[in-house]
Amino acid sequence: MPAPAFLLPADPLDGRRPDPHFAWEARLLRGLDAEHHLVDHDALLAGDAQAAVGRVPGGRGPFWYRGWMLPADRYADFAAALAERGAHLLTSAPGYASAHELPGWYGVFEGATPTSVWLPVPASVPPGPEELAPAVARLGGRGPAIVKDYVKSRKHEWHEACYIPELADLAAVERVVARFVELQGEFLAGGVVLRRFEEFARAGTAGPAPRGDGPSGPRPSDGNGQDTDGDADGDSPGGQAGKGPAVEARVWWLDGEPVLVGPHPDTPGCPADPDLAVVRPLVRALGCRFVTTDLAHRADGSGWRVVEVGDGQVSDLPRGIDASGLLVALLAA
Ligand SMILES: Nc1ncnc2c1ncn2[C@@H]1O[C@H](COP(=O)(O)OP(=O)(O)O)[C@@H](O)[C@H]1O
Ligand SMILES: [Mg+2]
Repeated sequence: MPAPAFLLPADPLDGRRPDPHFAWEARLLRGLDAEHHLVDHDALLAGDAQAAVGRVPGGRGPFWYRGWMLPADRYADFAAALAERGAHLLTSAPGYASAHELPGWYGVFEGATPTSVWLPVPASVPPGPEELAPAVARLGGRGPAIVKDYVKSRKHEWHEACYIPELADLAAVERVVARFVELQGEFLAGGVVLRRFEEFARAGTAGPAPRGDGPSGPRPSDGNGQDTDGDADGDSPGGQAGKGPAVEARVWWLDGEPVLVGPHPDTPGCPADPDLAVVRPLVRALGCRFVTTDLAHRADGSGWRVVEVGDGQVSDLPRGIDASGLLVALLAA
């Protein structure tokens, strides 16, 4: 089989150039003599996958995608449009959904990640108390929690649309969930997830995880559905006054091996050295070739927890990290 080639999003303003957010990865790939081609992310999101892959030469590949997140159904369209051109993605559409959406990976990681329940939310209609009450009961009925969708939270609107101080206060649960659904709007992925809140070591607090330099620079997108997994904007995840963001390590796994361990893009100055003994067999059990796991250390020092799993193709790389080893590994896959 020939070495994999890469597909990157094109600059929306100039289809012949890579999107500025991925230009450095394109440069690294050129430096490695790796083939890459550009795809039109807006067309992928709009459901016109054939137009999106119009610049991809037929009969090439196999391909790794490195780009903005795509909803699982759009990724499936992407894979199908490439297949029509005799090309294929190394991550199948079901594989992408397994790593990208919490219900796809939760069963494998249960016990190593905060306890979670989820509710499908068709047509962005927020769940009412009759649906939330049993979900809250399945989560234990009391204590703090967070809400997100199958893929993303609104961690930068922590008090308004992410953090639930007390599950027993069903009216407050309903309020935070409804605000979350409203703010996600048409970009709500799948449904609503409720997760028990756990105390993680945070930047600026004493704890076993290494120190952090705080959040990084501007967000690459403005919430228009373009996102990689790790949006390095503004306030701390959670924005919990005086606490700072949870210190997370992002581990990049290829075929069950950790090929890159680095900081999370939200805390790029936080090198961390997580213990991977618990996570490694879980990643292998998930069975997806290229995934990331975001790991946080419990504030009480009792070990590492999986905050979330992601598809490696759409996980953001923190600026300043040496990604060439990861790309070399992907080229040899
Ligand atoms: N169960 C939890 N307990 C405590 N903090 C959490 C929990 N889940 C998420 N967080 C905090 O909220 C942030 C965002 O959650 P995450 O699941 O990573 O969503 P996103 O996909 O938006 O990054 C995390 O980086 C972490 O700081
Ligand atoms: Mg995250």
